[in-house]
Amino acid sequence: MLIVSPTARISPLADIEESVRGSRIVIEDDVVIDSFVKFKPAGGCGDVVIGRGTVINSGCVFYTGHGIRIGAHVLIAANCTFAPTNHEFGDPGRFIHSQGFQPSRGGIVVGDDVWIGANTVLVDGANVGSGSVIGAASLVRGALPAYCVAMGVPARVRGSRGASTDCTNEPNH
Ligand SMILES: CC(C)(COP(=O)(O)OP(=O)(O)OC[C@H]1O[C@@H](n2cnc3c(N)ncnc32)[C@H](O)[C@@H]1OP(=O)(O)O)[C@@H](O)C(=O)NCCC(=O)NCCS
Repeated sequence: MLIVSPTARISPLADIEESVRGSRIVIEDDVVIDSFVKFKPAGGCGDVVIGRGTVINSGCVFYTGHGIRIGAHVLIAANCTFAPTNHEFGDPGRFIHSQGFQPSRGGIVVGDDVWIGANTVLVDGANVGSGSVIGAASLVRGALPAYCVAMGVPARVRGSRGASTDCTNEPNH
């Protein structure tokens, strides 16, 4: 089921596939979804909720898997992948595609006011605290605290957000 706020702005070139297994995809008020963003129901029955005011840039992919919850006013840069599901691969004698999916590690949760840098990959169990910044090309696979600056593969906390010294505080994305 697809539930989209009338105030969300979704590019006609975005592709949101409806689930045939009952996953809900909820796009809240004032969300902006750019061209070539893909929502793909696969690998589980989780819901996807994109919180109000969140901006998703081009090329991002969201697999529904065990579920994704994005908070409010989150900025997601280009080409990020949200993959809250893992193929089961334990039996080397069978094709991976015939082994189903691993149990949930909790899906993906992102708090409010988070900035996720371009080309970041988040996997099942990723949990990013509110107010955090994730550097470009990171791999997020577990819990990261609120208001941290984290980056790398896997992402590690390298700092925290302090007072901004930038005077060009335009509300651009
Ligand atoms: C993370 C980021 C915001 C910089 O944060 P910062 O706190 O100012 O970090 P600094 O530039 O001072 O770098 C601190 C350290 O982190 C490293 N670092 C910075 N960005 C990194 C990244 N994405 N991945 C891995 N390491 C990174 C630096 O090399 C430096 O390492 P060192 O201490 O060993 O020298 C920036 O590098 C980044 O990744 N921005 C994302 C840009 C983007 O995706 N924009 C899309 C348009 S919205």
